Amino acid sequence: MLRAVQEVGYQVCLTTNVLDPGNPLLIEAGAPASCSRPRRMVVIDAAVAALYGDEIGNYFAFHDAEYHPLILDAAESHKRMESVHQVIDELDRFGIDRRREPLIAIGGGVLTDIASFAASIYRRNTPYVRVPTTLIGLVDAGVGAKTGVNHHRHKNRIGTYFPPTVSLCDRRFLATLDHRHIVNGMAEILKIALVKDVRLFELLEESGADLVRDRFQPRYDGRSAEEVLERAIEGMLEELAPNLWEHKLERLVDYGHTFSPTLEMRALPELLHGEAVAIDMALTTLLGAQRGQVTDADAVRVLALMRTLGLPTSHPLCEPELLTAALRETVRHRDGRQRMPLPVGIGGARFVDDLSAAELTRAAKSLSAEAVHA
Ligand SMILES: NC(=O)c1ccc[n+]([C@@H]2O[C@H](COP(=O)([O-])OP(=O)(O)OC[C@H]3O[C@@H](n4cnc5c(N)ncnc54)[C@H](O)[C@@H]3O)[C@@H](O)[C@H]2O)c1
Repeated sequence: MLRAVQEVGYQVCLTTNVLDPGNPLLIEAGAPASCSRPRRMVVIDAAVAALYGDEIGNYFAFHDAEYHPLILDAAESHKRMESVHQVIDELDRFGIDRRREPLIAIGGGVLTDIASFAASIYRRNTPYVRVPTTLIGLVDAGVGAKTGVNHHRHKNRIGTYFPPTVSLCDRRFLATLDHRHIVNGMAEILKIALVKDVRLFELLEESGADLVRDRFQPRYDGRSAEEVLERAIEGMLEELAPNLWEHKLERLVDYGHTFSPTLEMRALPELLHGEAVAIDMALTTLLGAQRGQVTDADAVRVLALMRTLGLPTSHPLCEPELLTAALRETVRHRDGRQRMPLPVGIGGARFVDDLSAAELTRAAKSLSAEAVHA
């Protein structure tokens, strides 16, 4: 038997003004020092290109780089193999030198998922750099190792684990992101707070509403925006690092992702991913309260924060029948067991395998009653 071990390491840098020509991070990212003229192929989300295309072009011109942009329509409906082929065709046309010219992907989770998947299969692997431009990108899609596209009606059915060499996270892009997508990203930040970081939860209580309103841009100073993003990203990386290939199926980052995949697909296109995750977290908070793992006062606090952030806490589809079907589907994905993270207080969780249909029905009823009284 042959055994080979590959060490994996990548950098996630929080920076500001990544497109400022005076900031060398982007031109230096993932490239060896070289005296020849730099060349970069840059895949850009069309919405981002419309807003930042000139700045991106000026940045590479300032660094005297041969700049080869590929602008992609990165709507979820375009997250498919055809878009991956577009990137691959362009890589061929550009004639990338994969040892010294990392591919750069600038955009939301859809764009970075497409471009990173193309990079992972082009000539078996082509190093790349991610520049996430949405809140989900900054705290989730842009900092992990997963790549992929949808296939038929299955989400992320084709993909790989292929981390970037560097991920450059700049909250300035959020200045142009619409309100709903900011709130959507808040769900993934709240997830990390609920399962492992009570301080992050408190920060969200203190300044979450302001951060949503100001789109994480510094009004007076940027400290709370930075601290929230840093804690959310660090929390995420701490969970990913020991389990990058997801061999272990008990994952805290799966909190909020037990019922939400089915809910999201059934409600399509009404709910964004983070919105479905928030509803799942509201339900599981009540399940935790029923089991005495979360005090009633803490459950009230969690639901109040969700509302303050503008996240939904329930949905008419959250009926016992759908929730039971959703749990069955999740059990199938988690190799025959529930492995469900259930909150313990605020900032902790434990995995359960014995959630009953009766508990689920009771929590679903409490959730809709909550929604009526809210
Ligand atoms: N790879 C992973 O680990 C991972 C993790 C979470 C989510 N995802 C994937 O990410 C996708 C969702 O990503 P998303 O929430 O970033 O959505 P998205 O990529 O669809 O972007 C949301 C919208 O904002 C636009 N946009 C992007 N940046 C902008 C900016 N700075 N200003 C204005 N508009 C901007 C986009 O064009 C799009 O219309 C899903 O496909 C999901 O499966 C992947």
